[in-house]
Formats: sequence, structure tokens, C-alpha cells
Amino acid sequence: MKRLLASFAALPLILGGVQAFSQESDADLRARETEQQMTDDERFSLLISVLGNVPGASVPADPRVADLENASAGWTPGVPRLGIPDLQSSDASMGVTNPGYRPNDPGATAFPASIVVGSSFNPELAREGGIAIAREARSRGFNIMLAGGMNLTREVRNGRNFEYYGEDPLLSAILASEQVNGIQSQQVISTLKHYTLNANETNRHWLDAIIDPVGHRESDLLAFQIAIERSQPGAIMSGYNKINGEYAGGSHHLLNEVLKGTWGYKGYVMSDWGATPEWQYALHGLDQESGAQADRFMWSLDAEPFAAPLRQAYAEGKLPKERLSDMVRRILRSAYAVGIDKWEAAPAVDMARHNEIALEIARQGIVLLKNENVLPLPADKPLKIAVIGGYAQQGVISGTGSGAVAPVGGFASTTKIGGAGVMGKHRNLYLFQPSPVEALQKAFPNAQVEFDPGYTPAEAALTARRADVVIAFGIRVEGEGFDLPDLSLPWGQDAVIDAVATANPNTIVVLETGNPVSMPWRDKVKAIVQAWYPGQAGAQAIAEVLAGKVNPSGRTPITWPASLADTPRPTLSGLGTPWGTPVTIRYDEGAEVGYRWYAKKDIKPLYAFGHGLSYTNFAYSDLSLSVGAPDMTAVESHPATVVNASTPPAGDVKADLLSGGDAVTATFTVTNTGDREGADVPQLYLTAAPSEKRMRLLGFERVVLQPGESKQVTLTVDPRLLARFDGKANQWRITDGAYQIALGKSAGDLVLTAATELDGRMLRKE
Ligand code: BGC
Repeated sequence: MKRLLASFAALPLILGGVQAFSQESDADLRARETEQQMTDDERFSLLISVLGNVPGASVPADPRVADLENASAGWTPGVPRLGIPDLQSSDASMGVTNPGYRPNDPGATAFPASIVVGSSFNPELAREGGIAIAREARSRGFNIMLAGGMNLTREVRNGRNFEYYGEDPLLSAILASEQVNGIQSQQVISTLKHYTLNANETNRHWLDAIIDPVGHRESDLLAFQIAIERSQPGAIMSGYNKINGEYAGGSHHLLNEVLKGTWGYKGYVMSDWGATPEWQYALHGLDQESGAQADRFMWSLDAEPFAAPLRQAYAEGKLPKERLSDMVRRILRSAYAVGIDKWEAAPAVDMARHNEIALEIARQGIVLLKNENVLPLPADKPLKIAVIGGYAQQGVISGTGSGAVAPVGGFASTTKIGGAGVMGKHRNLYLFQPSPVEALQKAFPNAQVEFDPGYTPAEAALTARRADVVIAFGIRVEGEGFDLPDLSLPWGQDAVIDAVATANPNTIVVLETGNPVSMPWRDKVKAIVQAWYPGQAGAQAIAEVLAGKVNPSGRTPITWPASLADTPRPTLSGLGTPWGTPVTIRYDEGAEVGYRWYAKKDIKPLYAFGHGLSYTNFAYSDLSLSVGAPDMTAVESHPATVVNASTPPAGDVKADLLSGGDAVTATFTVTNTGDREGADVPQLYLTAAPSEKRMRLLGFERVVLQPGESKQVTLTVDPRLLARFDGKANQWRITDGAYQIALGKSAGDLVLTAATELDGRMLRKE
């Protein structure tokens, strides 16, 4: 087998990183010194956060936070004599929330949902959004953002998928880590959440997620592992659910053994709100209880279950002193590593700039799913445009739940939907202005834009018939606490779209949903635009895509099934069970999540993972693979952010390369063969491993090209994506033999293929 010689020029750099592992960082040292000076009262006080008083909440008002003007999801008093600031946390991934916790907030930037960032395949946008969110958080005194939601889409019915980055571990890890890097660069701690397998909402507090542990390591856990290496998040939030019978927040295996043991994670683990029923979780790896009142309420207890019992356990010798110190040290270490104790004047908040960032994310994240020569529409013609449904005369919609963000000036409107469980009262149809109707009128100044609410199919068809072109909006409120029973659009919208498409063949559908939809009208319409939940600037981005001012470049990070029967769980267990019912969901697909599943089963989906059209065309050529010396420039091009000079730049990739492992590097050329500027997202996949069909996204890059322009792209593959996890050896193993690799426009449209031989070997010992 041909090997290239290692380039040793990069070695001092790598050794520097490895050396840092063995040394105690400044943050470690300071945490140790401070903790030693603390009293037990101070120590215990740091181990819980208290939920801010939420108007109209199920949890009664609490005197501990009565005087706090700006309490949100969590507050922990600091220790002023030791310079430890209060810990104040807020949600998070789509901007500073939220209408539930702090209704008097003047409004924050409502960024697009994380699934839009997922569709952009653009780590820089994730980072920029993170920076902007953190600046708005800091200006309100929040030093912890509960961001970095990155559960993989195992279920297209999961109501919270819009808060995450899609179904692929690598894509999710890169984007989530860049959000965290952006946030932490502003001296605000970020979480990555919800660790792990919180992939469904139905009865989530009683949900037992069953998975083969090896498959888990190769999917959801790998995503967290990579994201942690790349961003060193100050905290990890555990999920509500159980995993193989054990609650995530009390899982010795996942917290002590995997996260803190094998991966060497040095930050702290906080629970999700209402997910800590007993103090013993502290022995299993939980470092801080979140929203203490929520736990009492959630589990109908007479008293809060963590703080006081933990103290008692300590007095009785059941909680070792070393563990108590470790919990405290971890929290302090994150505070020091990120620098929340070093705040000076809050950074300037430029809301106009933040709106630009929100707009850019929406522009890059909107996905053109289908286009039969109808888009872009001529922007200067005196068209008669019928806009149908989706409250498009009022605004674009937001996902609902703890992540919803009220923008400056408030929502255009809020409609209470309601539903079962504690999240029922937070399930709302929120609309952001400006409306698509206004934005379309601006983008098509000579057009006559007529709105019809889509109240009935017959009425909508009358409006559609007299237009040159119909833009029908389909919306669906999705959010925390609820899974979807099926993929249809609510309120009879499928029938309305069908009726307008029958009345007028020039129908374009714009979807604002957090998940794929079933689209029974698909063959009748000329174009389909997936806008997801595009945030406060979403209407403008939609109009710009339709008018061709923006050339669409989003790629769906979730596979669209042709039918739920094609998915790993045609029937979702637990759906329809009353609040409080124990539910078991088997994730028998294991590591074969999303497109991996469709490839394994040879099923053609409606739209493949990574699919998205453009108004120009791209060609790929010259795919070549090299195996051997690591190209350190490529590995270094996405470095883990070192939030403090002494934070070790962790990374199995580098460590593995140092131990003599081969790096697979792919090089290829992308050319814009059309006549307008556009961005493409070439995607590199493993399609087969020795004696096994196995699909894995190995790398991607968003490339902006002028007409006729070509660029050469080089991607270096994380060896774990070519390996299998050997559960017995607790190590990643490369099987000896031939590997098929393909370059594609999506997981379903592979253009060039290549093969390489790899030597069988173990990767670095975990
Ligand atoms: C959600 C978390 C959120 C927390 C605090 C929980 O309901 O699952 O994602 O950070 O509330 O608002």
C-alpha cells in the first residue's frame, strides 16, 4: 500500500497541543485554589440554579429570585468575596429568549432556527450568530447561554428538530461547536445540549431511548465528542430522557465514564429543567441542578430533591468530599476558562448588524427543493401575484417553546394553540414582521400582490385563478413538548394548496416548518421552497430568493421521507399517550441515522440529505484521494477555539495523526458552469467499507463561485468517520481493505467516485 512521507514541519505544533493536555491550565489552577478557600455553604450554593419568576408559570414565585430584575432560566448566587460572579443563564440558540421568562424585555434579535444554520452548511455563519447572541446576552447580564442544541434528527416527527442542526453527526458537531465558539469568544459560557438521544418530545420525562451502545458511539455520541473537542463548551446539559433504562442526567456510564473519563471533559454537567428527581445524580456525574423549583414541581415532591438531600448525604458520608470539590471546581473552571469573571464594559450591541446576520443566515439556509423553470420570478414585470395562506399578510412563523425569541417591537401576533403537558401553555403561533406580503411587494415593485388567507380551498382557488403566479404558504407550529403525529400540514392547508395548484398551474409553495412535510400536492406545483423558521428577517430572504436577488444555496440537513413507512419507525411509540406515561422508543437504526438508513436499506427518499437547488449549475472534476501524511494545514483550518491560552486544544484527530495514523485527504475541483454567481456545497461521502455498505458524510465545504469560475477544494477526513467503534476494546478500529468514497451534490446524487485502501488498525486509545 502506497504511503506518503509524513511532513514533520507540523510536529512542534501538534506536540505543543499534546503537552498542554498533561499540564494543569490556569483555569484548573485557579479553580482549585478558589475552591479550597470556600466554605461548605458556598460550595453547596453553587450547585443549584434557581428558575427566575415566570409570570403565569406552573411553578410558584420564589423568594430567592424575587428581587432579581433579570432572572431567566437560571440564577446561582456568586461568591463576591472570592470574585465569583452570579451565574445567570438564558436560552439561547436562536437569540436571547424569551417571551415566557421575561415578558418585559425590549426584544432581542430573533435569529433563524438552528435548522436554517444547518441548511447553510456554513460554520462561519454559526459562529457569527453565536457572537451576536452572546453580545445581546451580555448586555442583559447573562453569562451562560443554554445554546448549542445538537440532538440528531432520528425522527422527522420530533417537534424540536428546528432547534438542532439535522441528522448528521459531523455537520451538527461543526455547526454547534462554531456557535459555542462564537458565544464563548464573548466571555459567555455556552452549553452543548441535550446529552444525549433526546430525539423525541412525547412524554420526554418518561421516555426511555433504547439504542445499541456501539451505534450510539458512532452517531449521537460522536457528534458530541467532535463538538466538545472543537469548542470546549463550559457546560453540557443532559437530556430529559433515559438511555437504555438510565436517566441521562444520572447516567454514570455516559457522564462519568464516557464524557469525563474517556473524553476527558473538564467543564460541568448541568441538568435540564425538571430533570433531577434525586441527589444521587451527583454521584453519577451531574455537577449542577438546574431550575431547582422545576424539579420539585415536575416530580410532585414536598421539597426540592437536590440541594438539601445532597448536604445531608455529605454529612452522612455518602457524598465524598472529593466529589463535592470536583463539582465546584468544574463550574469554577468553566467560569475562569471562558472569562465570565473578567467582564469589563459590555460589548457594543449593533442591532442593525445583528439583523443583517439574521438575514444572511436565512438567505443561505433557505432550501430550493424543486424548481420546474419557474423561479426566479421576473422581478420587474407587472405580474399579478396571488399570495395564499400561512398568515403571510402578518409575518413568518417561529418555532415554539423555551427557545422562542420575542423581537424588538414584539411579535406581529401571538395565537395560543395549547396542548397537553407542561409545555401546552407555551405552545403558540408566533409571527415575526415584516410579512411576506410586504417583502414581496418590495421585491416585485411592479407587481400587483393580492393576499388570500387560504381560509377554504374554494375561496383560495378563486383568487389563484385570476393571478399570473401563485405563492402558497404552508406553515406548521412545531415545538418543545410535542411530536408530530404525521407530516401533513395543519388546518387543511394541504387541501388549500391542492386547490390553488389545480386552479393555477403556476403555483410555488413556500414552507415554514421545522421538519419535512408529506406534500401530497408535490407533483402539481412548479416549485417548492423550504424556508424552515427563518427568523425576524425571514420574509425578506424568502422574497429575495423568489425574485432571484439571492441565488438559493441551502441544502436540507434532514432527509425527506417519501412515506413514514420508509423511516426506521413507521409508528412512533408513545404518540397519544397521556402526559406522564412511560414510553420506550427503540432507536434500532443505531448509527444508521437519516441518509445512512436510506442508503443501507436502498430506499429512495422524497429529497435526499444535502439536496438543494440553485439558479446556476455546478460541475465536479478531478477527485483524487491521498492516504498518508496528515495535511496539517487542512486539519488546522478548523481549529478548536482556545478560549484561554492554556485550554488544551483537544482533538483525537491530531493525537491520532501523531500516533502515525493515516489521514485520508480528498481533493477536487468545483466549477460554476451556469451564468450567475452562486454557492455550492460539495459533499464527500463514504459509500462502502470493506465487505459492508456504509454511508457517512466525511466532509463538505460551501464554495461561492462566479460564472465560469473553478475552485479546488481539499477536505481532510476525521478517521473516526471511516472507522467502527469497537465496544470491547473501547477504541475506534479501521478495518483493513477497500473504501469507496464519493463526491456528491447530495447523499442521493453522487457525481464522482474514488476508492482507497486502508490498513487495518486501531485509532488512539480512548
Ligand atoms: C429545555 C432546555 C432549556 C431549558 C431552560 C427546557 O425545557 O429542554 O433546552 O434550556 O428548558 O429554559
